[in-house]
Amino acid sequence: MARKSIILEYSIVLTLLAFCFLVTEGAPQSALVTQIPGLNGTFNSKHYAGYVNLDESHGKNMFYYFIESEKNPSNDPVVLWLNGGPGCSSFDGFVYEHGPFNFELGKANGSLPILHNNPYSWSKVSNIIYLDSPVGVGLSYSKNKDDYNTGDLKTASETHSFLLKWFAIYPEFLKNPFYISGESYAGIYVPTLASEVVKGIDAKVEPVINFKGYLVGNGVTDEKIDGNALVPFQHGMGLISDKMFEDATTACKGVFYTPGSQNCTSLLLKITQTVMGLNIYDILEPCYHSPLSTKNSKLPMSFHKLGETERPLPVRTRMFGRAWPLNAPVKEGLVPSWPELLDNHHVFCTDDTVATAWLNNEDVRKAIHAEPATVTGPWELCKHLNFTHDAGSMLPYHKNLTTRGYRALIYSGDHDMCVPYTGSEKWTSSLGYAIVDEWRPWYTKDQIQGYVQVAGYTQGYANNLTFLTIKGAGHTVPEYKPRESLQFYDNWLQGKKI
Ligand SMILES: *[C@@H]1O[C@H](CO)[C@@H](O)[C@H](O)[C@H]1NC(C)=O
Ligand SMILES: *[C@@H]1O[C@H](CO)[C@@H](O)[C@H](O)[C@H]1NC(C)=O
Ligand SMILES: *[C@@H]1O[C@H](CO)[C@@H](O)[C@H](O)[C@H]1NC(C)=O
Ligand SMILES: *[C@@H]1O[C@H](CO)[C@@H](O)[C@H](O)[C@H]1NC(C)=O
Ligand SMILES: *[C@@H]1O[C@H](CO)[C@@H](O)[C@H](O)[C@H]1NC(C)=O
Ligand SMILES: *[C@@H]1O[C@H](CO)[C@@H](O)[C@H](O)[C@H]1NC(C)=O
Repeated sequence: MARKSIILEYSIVLTLLAFCFLVTEGAPQSALVTQIPGLNGTFNSKHYAGYVNLDESHGKNMFYYFIESEKNPSNDPVVLWLNGGPGCSSFDGFVYEHGPFNFELGKANGSLPILHNNPYSWSKVSNIIYLDSPVGVGLSYSKNKDDYNTGDLKTASETHSFLLKWFAIYPEFLKNPFYISGESYAGIYVPTLASEVVKGIDAKVEPVINFKGYLVGNGVTDEKIDGNALVPFQHGMGLISDKMFEDATTACKGVFYTPGSQNCTSLLLKITQTVMGLNIYDILEPCYHSPLSTKNSKLPMSFHKLGETERPLPVRTRMFGRAWPLNAPVKEGLVPSWPELLDNHHVFCTDDTVATAWLNNEDVRKAIHAEPATVTGPWELCKHLNFTHDAGSMLPYHKNLTTRGYRALIYSGDHDMCVPYTGSEKWTSSLGYAIVDEWRPWYTKDQIQGYVQVAGYTQGYANNLTFLTIKGAGHTVPEYKPRESLQFYDNWLQGKKI
């Protein structure tokens, strides 16, 4: 008897020990990614990936990919990254912008891409979570398709639930400073989520998130300010003439986001036609057209040739879905999909080949603990959701967050015509904060000879609000300027001068 009870007690102790071990160990070993098909090399830090279930009854599953910092994971910040859309997967950032790998298109038709370690990965200096949000996006899915009817406020609240569950699974990262980041339509996701996180902190919701601030790149913010910023950008960049600008300004009385008269409408139409052949995500880049999209198109021959370039492709040639077609400001209410916006005309410049090939490969899915396509559907860069823009302007959010001491970096690729820097510059200044670091260049050393070069411009405001441009970058800044991006990211996270 005695012996039996000792064994029993011993097994209870073992169970308790195992439990303690699990709790203190944190990071679930089942989520550890040990190999990646296509990778030529080894991981520079630990990678974890998998689902966080938000709602047992619905089977609402959020997919994340988490990379530990290559520097000092136990002290470096934890950063959440969100791509926009709405409906676009954060693997956009992972594959094309600041993820741990650079993806090279496989040589043979249909073969896996070859992955190389990315020297400018944001995981060099931070722990980073790539999250497919809301459910229905990327590899996140729900068994209840009603969950795909969503909007800004529901997305923010669900992503907050995700964070609480994620930190419960990875408790060892709770003490690290936490930041929220994203680009394009994530200009809405980031402040609305930050606001939920702060409400949670105020209400002492456990676990308590050590939230410090946020970063937004070329972010949608305010219908009017963003909408009015396009024509001045086009003029300043030399895309329309002085006369077109002056005529439009007079006819539209300086209000471009909602044409007030017939004359204004027709002048804006003329401007749109003038800039239509440009790649709106970077006005300096060629606009690629897949052979399929041009074959049956009624466009003139000159347009068919637009994507042809001798240049090896340092950035993507596609432009579908990352944000918004020209002159289609984000308005309150149901956010239409691209095909709806374009009246079912072809979307030009589409090419997501590498990401699509990689994320639809079943071996890759297994390796990163994603469900197969039979469960999630095929991975698409941007999926159509029934999504309502219901949070209004982000200005009150930014005001509340920054006056409460949360740090904010609003950065902008200055050659993006989708969410141009002119709007971000205007709204940051419209908050009315004192300028503490007047408009000045910021610098980087060039890679070849180490000469100091201007990398962009910045203006610092009271309440730890920083506006920053990246010279020559388009909509997805780190895709165009990876080295400069890692530099400003690292310096800002450390609270150093950029
Ligand atoms: C893999 O990496 C090695 C060394 O970094 C390089 O020599 C080789 O060409 C790479 N292979 C492929 C298929 O890219
Ligand atoms: C690649 O494969 C696809 C489908 O298997 C085929 O439709 C396409 O023509 C191929 N492309 C080339 C360049 O061989
Ligand atoms: C879209 O969502 C709204 C509100 O969430 C809902 O009322 C509407 O029925 C949905 N439309 C479709 C086509 O599911
Ligand atoms: C509209 O444009 C026409 C032709 O340029 C001009 O004659 C007319 O005065 C304009 N109307 C207004 C209200 O400015
Ligand atoms: C901002 O803060 C005020 C005062 O606490 C609050 O009434 C308002 O709802 C907040 N707005 C947003 C968008 O968070
Ligand atoms: C700015 O951020 C620093 C570092 O987080 C903090 O110590 C300081 O209080 C903040 N300043 C303001 C005005 O919020």
